[in-house]
Amino acid sequence: MNMNQTALKSRAGRVFDVERIRTDFPILKLAPGGKPLVYLDNAASSQMPQQVIDRLVRYQTSQHANIHRAVHTLSEIATAEYEEARRKLARFVNAREERELIFTSGTTEAINLVMHGYGRKFIGAGDEIILTTLEHHSNIVPWQMLAEEKGARIRVVPINDAGELLVDEYEKLFNAHTKFVGMAHVSNALGSVNPVKQMIAFAHARGVPVLVDGAQAAPHMRVDVQDIDCDFYAFSGHKLCGPTGIGALYGKAMLLERMQPFKGGGDMILSVTFEKTTYNVIPQKFEAGTPPIAAAIGLGAAIDYLSAIGLDAIAAHEQALLDYASAQLKAMPGVRIIGTAAEKAAVLSFALEGVHPHDVGTLLNQEGVAVRTGHHCAQPVMQRFKVPATSRASFAFYNTLAEVDALAAGIRKVQRIFS
Ligand SMILES: Cc1ncc(COP(=O)(O)O)c(C=O)c1O
Repeated sequence: MNMNQTALKSRAGRVFDVERIRTDFPILKLAPGGKPLVYLDNAASSQMPQQVIDRLVRYQTSQHANIHRAVHTLSEIATAEYEEARRKLARFVNAREERELIFTSGTTEAINLVMHGYGRKFIGAGDEIILTTLEHHSNIVPWQMLAEEKGARIRVVPINDAGELLVDEYEKLFNAHTKFVGMAHVSNALGSVNPVKQMIAFAHARGVPVLVDGAQAAPHMRVDVQDIDCDFYAFSGHKLCGPTGIGALYGKAMLLERMQPFKGGGDMILSVTFEKTTYNVIPQKFEAGTPPIAAAIGLGAAIDYLSAIGLDAIAAHEQALLDYASAQLKAMPGVRIIGTAAEKAAVLSFALEGVHPHDVGTLLNQEGVAVRTGHHCAQPVMQRFKVPATSRASFAFYNTLAEVDALAAGIRKVQRIFS
């Protein structure tokens, strides 16, 4: 493979001009510690292109006001731009209606919204909630809090040694007490892509609603909530080249309408007296208080940016990076790849024999290579593989084959230091 190759041919045969794309990202020009930045921590947070930065500046310099509240021009502009961002996000996941798209601060808040709004109303003592071993803590802890409060029980879908869900075992977990399923679309720790459509169909045949944590899927593949038929889908803006502090929950209107609000305050009401409050319609019912208006508009710009490149082209480029990186690491003695599912997104978790992951991360950082080390907020996955932590390289569409080579060279250097 040519190390200087800058444009990869996608599987569709189109040239994906990664060097051109990289010029959109000012941060990628940095050289912390004198070495060019090789940013491979995209599963934690991706970087922001100039187009999104410019959109934020335009909003702050010429459009900012509070929304939904005033008749003056700026407020009307800000409201229109905020609602346009909602439309973009709704289209991005192919929601039926834009009111099915609720702005949240991110995936974590979206899941907590469902726990409070749906779970506390419809899940009770003796009921069961199915989760998977692959969940991020944000799709475990809220449900544990609910189970503790209500006397409900959590059941867990196991995985095999490749990090794939055991779908047969999932199906066996269902019984008359099953009231809810929560599952990651893509595992943040291993990259496994879960067969959510098939698993949702199974749950629906038993009348059980399903929440999909899409934090690691939305940036890397085309998401179609109508096709997979999930009841809820949660994702975060900062993993989608957007700002922090913004994300979204897609929910089927019929369910959102039956749910109780998660937070009380301004904008989520139609009328208030000291005797009684009437709640607003969806989505406002779930958006109490002044939302992160700028961040929502910035996320709308990020969606425009990603859509212009195309999620299929992004997925193909990232798959090429993953294949190349997996082949390199597989060939290196002393390197164990953790997570070898047949269907994987752009995450490569690994362990180096005799080297603690934190040392791996620290030494790679000295080479300019930014990877994440730790339990990745997925401790049950670490427990399953009997490791305290892993090193994780996670790719975005702006990464290159040469950066994969830099990762491999960095790992070889770590091994030399510890040999
Ligand atoms: C699969 C998954 N779910 C949930 C989250 C939480 O996202 P946020 O911190 O943006 O709420 C993450 C973040 O890493 C994740 O990878």
